[in-house]
Amino acid sequence: MTYPTIGIERMVKTVRLLITGGAGFIGSNFVRYLLKSRPEVSIINLDALTYAGNLESLDDLPHDRHKFVRGDISQRDQVEACADGVDAIINLAAESHVDRSILDSSAFIRTNVVGTQVLLETMRRRKIARFLQVSTDEVYGSIETGKFTEMSPLYTNSPYAASKASADLLARSYHRTYGLDIVITRCSNNFGPYQFPEKLIPLMILNALEDARLPVYGDGLYVRDWIHVEDHCRALEMVLFRGSPGEIYNVGSNQEMTNREVIQRVLDILGKPASLIQNVTDRPGHDRRYALDSTKIRHDFGWTPLIPFDQGLENTVRWYLEHQAWTAHVRSGSYRHYYEQMYERRSQTLANL
Ligand code: NAD
Ligand code: TYD
Repeated sequence: MTYPTIGIERMVKTVRLLITGGAGFIGSNFVRYLLKSRPEVSIINLDALTYAGNLESLDDLPHDRHKFVRGDISQRDQVEACADGVDAIINLAAESHVDRSILDSSAFIRTNVVGTQVLLETMRRRKIARFLQVSTDEVYGSIETGKFTEMSPLYTNSPYAASKASADLLARSYHRTYGLDIVITRCSNNFGPYQFPEKLIPLMILNALEDARLPVYGDGLYVRDWIHVEDHCRALEMVLFRGSPGEIYNVGSNQEMTNREVIQRVLDILGKPASLIQNVTDRPGHDRRYALDSTKIRHDFGWTPLIPFDQGLENTVRWYLEHQAWTAHVRSGSYRHYYEQMYERRSQTLANL
């Protein structure tokens, strides 16, 4: 794909990217996507390999243009060690699960806030040309009707969302104060291959496969706008190479569904009964609905999502069926402990009601 020579392409012929969080769900998909779509790109992939990061998600990637470094974005020396010759930083490293942020927000502040500040400082000191902060629709909070635009106020309801909003504000401040070339994307709920099975869709796929219960928080009528991770990756590429400094771009797919509808579609694909669904205690501060107005990225770059929800979901279910070794590995150890802690507690609370 060729683009007009703007953004970082204006300055460099070959592009050296520092991608953080590249062993996670979106990060590993984005690294894979870029290596395929952009022959001029070489990538340093900095990831702490927390419970959510997995080197097996990168197994099939070539080593000549992709170098993995284990490191923590909140540690300045570890980030500095990766900064030589870097043209742009793409920050995907994060603690990303709302329920975990409710159990304990410390790691969210450390990685999402302090980590982003460390990366921004590195950009400033090392005169790195561009910074893409990968953010989320959750920074806007919940909306009953209508859609959030890039001008909507930040109004967060979970510690996760608050930490992401803090990072966005820091990024903006580095643009305004130091004139740095920073762009921000805010995307809706992603699904697809390599997603850690604590999030709704992979959790439901894997539980249904094992005929285990499917825990639905509250009345299950919470609405999310689901986008396939590959459509998000294309949006990230466009903003990285063509976005205007200081701008924010919403990325949504207009595929709104209640959680119950999503779960029913998973059950239909797998031919499993609805009796697996079990209502459990709601998430505190649970956002009722997310919805984004993505006119700006559609208008400015002609971006549009290409993968319809049903098709993407079928492919995703097939991917989990075909990658059971990956799943078994990421679900072992500390994940099992988290799962028991999270869902045992929910059923106990439910029993006490
Ligand atoms: P993920 O949890 O799957 O992956 C996060 C990655 O970051 C993991 O590989 C982890 O090891 C790494 N990491 C965590 N702490 C780190 C640290 N201190 N230093 C270096 N690496 C660290 O998350 P994801 O779903 O891939 O999300 C990626 C980004 O996209 C996040 O910033 C998230 O807020 C944003 N986002 C996610 C969604 C979604 O639906 N998943 C939607 C919009 C935006
Ligand atoms: P999640 O995948 O955690 O994403 P987010 O909270 O960032 O939107 O959850 C998506 C929706 O599914 C959210 O409304 C919470 C709900 N949910 C359940 O009902 N049961 C579950 O076991 C999980 C993980 C989520």
